[in-house]
Amino acid sequence: MHDDQVSAGGEQAQQEVLSAADVAEGPVPAHVACVMDGNGRWAARRGLPRTEGHAAGEAALLDAVEGALELGIPWITMYAFSTENWRRPPEEVRYLMGFNESLLMRRRDELNEKGVRIRFAGRRDWRVPKRVLTRMDESIELTKRNRRCTLTMAFNYGGRAEIVDAVRDLVADGVKPEKVTEKAIRSHLYFPDQPDPDLVIRTSGEHRISNFLLWQLAYSELVFTEVLWPDFRRTHLFEAVRDFQRRQRRYGGVT
Ligand code: FPP
Repeated sequence: MHDDQVSAGGEQAQQEVLSAADVAEGPVPAHVACVMDGNGRWAARRGLPRTEGHAAGEAALLDAVEGALELGIPWITMYAFSTENWRRPPEEVRYLMGFNESLLMRRRDELNEKGVRIRFAGRRDWRVPKRVLTRMDESIELTKRNRRCTLTMAFNYGGRAEIVDAVRDLVADGVKPEKVTEKAIRSHLYFPDQPDPDLVIRTSGEHRISNFLLWQLAYSELVFTEVLWPDFRRTHLFEAVRDFQRRQRRYGGVT
């Protein structure tokens, strides 16, 4: 561990830069989920268009994945586009579709070489351009045998939509009311094999869930940081893990 001088708002602030070794001894979450928020504000502060903030978020995403690999976190979920994000200005939506497609083309080989399995949680509806779906399918196929870490991109994802889809499946299967249990609903979520997130990180100082993994977050530990997503690096992941290690999880019981 070492201290680093960083400039925050024009003032010199002491900030601890953590490495994986600083938190590797404690319990490491099996599943970390991130709400990558603050790209637009990051860009606005620099007088840049919002899309430049998204572009800068790519490095943060890759560094967070690297950090997760260093720590041996086997499951990561990243919120890349919500079912509500279609309400953003059309040019931003268009940009985000193209950006997610090109990000996969740029990064899938290196993620594959690192042993990362790429998956997508969300609705494959008519609004997602065909070519984006094609890149998604190619990335899934390319990386499907990897097991070091599973990176799930929540794309055209909504927590409520996921629950609706699970219930629709149950109804379509003719499941009787008394057979509608938590276990039955869970088994119809997009990825029933995935453990619930132990830790959720939201950047940019916003303190809300925004329709992310509503079912799965029931007992997750939530960490909110002021850091804007494009500035997020693995040290911030390690800080969140350290925070997580100080929490006492009770799951409704007593300790
Ligand atoms: C939820 O906030 C946040 C998201 C759905 C993440 C959106 C992320 C991006 C658009 C950038 C993706 C970046 C990379 C690098 C792939 P919200 O804004 O949907 O919800 P709110 O209105 O409640 O804040």
